[in-house]
Amino acid sequence: MVIYHRLSDKKALIIGGTGGIGRSIALALAQNRAELFIHGGTSQERMESALMEARSFGVRAQGLLSRIDGTVAPFLAFCPEPDIVVAAHGTFLRKRIVETTAEDWRFMAVVNLAFPGALISAVLPGMIARKYGRILLFGGTDTGVIRGFSTTPAYSAAKTGLAVIARSVAQIAASFGVTCNIICPGLVDTEYANEETKSYNRAKSPSGIPLIPETIAQTALHILDSPSLNGAIIQIDGGVSL
Ligand SMILES: NC(=O)c1ccc[n+]([C@@H]2O[C@H](COP(=O)([O-])OP(=O)(O)OC[C@H]3O[C@@H](n4cnc5c(N)ncnc54)[C@H](OP(=O)(O)O)[C@@H]3O)[C@@H](O)[C@H]2O)c1
Repeated sequence: MVIYHRLSDKKALIIGGTGGIGRSIALALAQNRAELFIHGGTSQERMESALMEARSFGVRAQGLLSRIDGTVAPFLAFCPEPDIVVAAHGTFLRKRIVETTAEDWRFMAVVNLAFPGALISAVLPGMIARKYGRILLFGGTDTGVIRGFSTTPAYSAAKTGLAVIARSVAQIAASFGVTCNIICPGLVDTEYANEETKSYNRAKSPSGIPLIPETIAQTALHILDSPSLNGAIIQIDGGVSL
């Protein structure tokens, strides 16, 4: 395992850090001796498991459970002045555009775009002042380019919007040691995937083998360590095409 010494003792806020890709990143950060502030949605069991495993690496780790409703104040109180912010939370929505309701559009826009945007606006001045910051966002599969999505338009539109946020942050904050990048994963088998999803992931993955969270986490750590990678939209998708 590569050890990224520059990440040690950094305060890392991982949104959606109790499951899937977020959990793998949280644990990889723990192995690199970062101090963890792990957020999760509703599962106390997943939170306790993530905290226990993180602490087994000898680092400090605390947790916050909350459904994301667009408010950032609880996150700032939970982790004031983070050095690292990873936004790896759900929520996914598979609905064709003709079936998508006004509430679906609002919910997807709040959770997947407005919330990360508002959180970044709140933490960025501190990162700029301290001359260090790492922000990592998660797009959807193939949402790094403007294209149509027949079954996930509301989710994918919000995720595509994240690219504007990442590039805007890079534009104003790169000279202050702050980076903001996006990973657009392909089809990843997580503990949330049921048999139907796993079978879809296998069938669609060019290699026939879906990605695993640990693979995404390895690249995530490299991105978080790097001072020069900025405003990048990085597809880790095994060449999948939906
Ligand atoms: N998995 C894939 O194939 C894939 C593909 C492309 C992009 N992505 C993106 O990559 C990121 C990670 O995906 P993932 O599949 O590993 O995990 P995920 O299911 O999207 O997210 C899991 C984490 O988010 C929390 N969470 C879920 N809904 C929430 C809500 N409404 N409010 C607050 N917290 C919530 C979960 O907590 P609880 O467990 O307590 O609910 C858990 O900590 C996401 O942004 C996803 O959109 C994933």
